[in-house]
Amino acid sequence: MNQDVINEIKQLKAERNAVILAHYYQQGDIQDIADHIGDSLALARIASTLDNPVIVMCGVHFMGETVKILCPDKIVLVPDLNAGCSLSDSCPADSFAEFIKQHPDHTVISYVNTSAAVKTLTDIVVTSGNARKIVESLPPDEKIIFGPDRNLGNYINSVTGRNMVLWDGACHVHEKFSVEKILELKKEHPHAKILVHPECKRPLTLIADKVGSTAVLLEYAVETDADTFIVATESGIIHEMKRRCPDKTFIPAPPDDFTTCGCNDCSFMKLNTLEKLRDCLRDLAPRIEIDPEVARQARLPIDRMLALS
Ligand code: 13P
Ligand code: SF4
Repeated sequence: MNQDVINEIKQLKAERNAVILAHYYQQGDIQDIADHIGDSLALARIASTLDNPVIVMCGVHFMGETVKILCPDKIVLVPDLNAGCSLSDSCPADSFAEFIKQHPDHTVISYVNTSAAVKTLTDIVVTSGNARKIVESLPPDEKIIFGPDRNLGNYINSVTGRNMVLWDGACHVHEKFSVEKILELKKEHPHAKILVHPECKRPLTLIADKVGSTAVLLEYAVETDADTFIVATESGIIHEMKRRCPDKTFIPAPPDDFTTCGCNDCSFMKLNTLEKLRDCLRDLAPRIEIDPEVARQARLPIDRMLALS
């Protein structure tokens, strides 16, 4: 059955001259059929170089918007438009505009996990893969607002010695990991390395062997000699970790509460399925549409990011 759908996707992709991008948090069968997989930074970079008239972004809504902003003349599809992001939702544009007003003379840095409307209020967009480098490229006395992720902002403040003003937003998946349960796991696997995404709370970053974006954690797993890893980020990344390191063991870090969510899945990311991917290529819908003036303004801080990273 899956093979039939996969064959249909391949045929439709060729007919449409489409390209499929997939984030590391997508289900494994979508990652396997994608032309490019990556973290948010890699996918934004790749999107900016593509010639195909149709781009399918297998990820969440803000990722589709980033592609549409970078490729305004192309048809940009997301298999399920309900694939939102709790972090992006924690930062409505009108409230963020008020916050900026309360902090005049500040440079506004926004994580890519934001709506196009928030990006129009932003000076420089960052991803978890380049946030530190971009903040460090600014003069030490520059006053900075950082939104929307308080944990990533705190982490960047701690490693750069800055005192950025933080918007109080968070990701519901990354805030759930339990330090206590990870330390219990570590007792069972004393040689395991702990990998932590910077959207996790500060105590997790303090026990981590490596803190970084999904791509950084993946490279660390590939390059380091250790054979066991406890992975504190969305579990989809483990698919590529296992593919690249078939002889190593990857243990998903446990969340603190199994009653609300029994796993480390981002329910938004997992809304995309092979069937929906096939259907969107067949129907050329659902599409990401953005008001052209909003897209034009939202592009400036993304272009600044791409130039600085
Ligand atoms: P990356 O920047 O590591 O791709 O992460 C994106 C994201 O949504 C994390 O939750
Ligand atoms: Fe958003 Fe969190 Fe899902 Fe990433 S894991 S897309 S930040 S809700």
